[in-house]
Amino acid sequence: MAVRLIVVGAGSRGAVYAGWVRAHPEAARIVAVAEPRAAHREQLARDHDLPADAVVADWRELVDRPRFADGVVIATPDVLHAEPAIAFAELGYHVLLEKPMAPNADDCRRIVAAVERHGVMLAVGHVLRYTRYTERIKAIIGAGRIGEIASVAHLEPVGYWHQAHSFVRGNWRDQARSAPMLLAKSSHDLDWIRYVVGEPCVQVSSFGSLQHFHAGARPAGAADRCLDCAVEPSCAYSAVKIYLGRVRTGYTGWPVDVLTSDLTETGVTEALRTGPYGRCVYACDNDVVDHQVVAMQFASGATATFTMTGFTRQRDRETRIFGTRGELYGDGSTIEVHDFLTDRTETIRTDVALDGTEHAAAGHSGGDARLIARFVAAIATGDRTQILSGPAESLESHLMVFAAEQARRDGRVVDVVP
Ligand SMILES: NC(=O)c1ccc[n+]([C@@H]2O[C@H](COP(=O)([O-])OP(=O)(O)OC[C@H]3O[C@@H](n4cnc5c(N)ncnc54)[C@H](O)[C@@H]3O)[C@@H](O)[C@H]2O)c1
Repeated sequence: MAVRLIVVGAGSRGAVYAGWVRAHPEAARIVAVAEPRAAHREQLARDHDLPADAVVADWRELVDRPRFADGVVIATPDVLHAEPAIAFAELGYHVLLEKPMAPNADDCRRIVAAVERHGVMLAVGHVLRYTRYTERIKAIIGAGRIGEIASVAHLEPVGYWHQAHSFVRGNWRDQARSAPMLLAKSSHDLDWIRYVVGEPCVQVSSFGSLQHFHAGARPAGAADRCLDCAVEPSCAYSAVKIYLGRVRTGYTGWPVDVLTSDLTETGVTEALRTGPYGRCVYACDNDVVDHQVVAMQFASGATATFTMTGFTRQRDRETRIFGTRGELYGDGSTIEVHDFLTDRTETIRTDVALDGTEHAAAGHSGGDARLIARFVAAIATGDRTQILSGPAESLESHLMVFAAEQARRDGRVVDVVP
């Protein structure tokens, strides 16, 4: 029988998971949605043929009822994760919770305590764990091909326009209203590093700042909105270039579709004239960092460094893993493994399946689909190992993030206390 799921928050992420369910009716079906935005709520209701009483504006209306589904996908904004996660866990629902679990350690601990107390499964949206690329890296390390890990150097190249879109003009620009950069964007990375190293992180230090996207870096003659700006043609972060430039080539996917539901040139121009995404990047109400580094010490003495920077072209994360018998480099799709004994390098393409066929992997290199597929399989079979991050490990990687942010703010080394 298909696993019954509720979607709480039918925004971008809720739609991704619901889309997978729609494409796999034999495995799962959506039985209710909670979403305050009428257009998004009705779209999901139509796509999944939901009866009127299963379509509500707020998740609280669903927890007033006895349990009527197997699991819940919680894809609300970061600050609205803990309460629904705990409420649904208390009713016995298995929970797929978008990352970050919550913006503070106390709420993360409360979520983990609730799922453990009620014996339900928790899958946090750490989609990078679920990609074929990561699976191969774990297998290479697990087979001992590079020996013991001594150090890891991991780069998250956010991309200059993605930084401007999400972290200067957009929803994740303001720490108080969303989360620090490390939690909003890089909780994936610290979690991934912890997963790859395969042991607890014990200490962290960190540095980083908002170097560029503030009034002090504003070019002479810049206007508050790109549509009115005389120096717009010479600005790499121009909203005209980033959004209208794409619309004019016929592209209306992310990030353009975040601005408005009217995806014509007129609609997007209007959004740039009146909405947050048309603002000068040097005249926004943003405070999250545009670059940050974290140094990590693991239980065995292995170390890792992480660099997040907005000042890159758009591309995938890159990692170097230095082991006692070999060295591994990965760029998100291709892995190079160099063996010290033979001094040979093997190159492995992870966008090619083992039978040699190429596969296009959408959504975090296939991680989105594999996460929801495994969550559904875990519910269907009761096999918790389908979920690649248990509650304790998810909590641990969030605690790494909070400790690193504290280390940056205080300018000191911070212990990661479980
Ligand atoms: N795993 C990933 O890689 C990844 C990527 C992007 C975002 N995220 C996370 O996913 C979550 C959602 O992000 P998004 O980009 O989909 O944002 P979004 O704004 O598109 O969607 C959030 C939705 O929650 C709805 N909502 C607000 N209050 C609600 C309530 N009381 N009940 C039900 N729904 C409510 C909003 O109306 C909105 O439609 C965030 O926590 C975000 O950090 C994860």
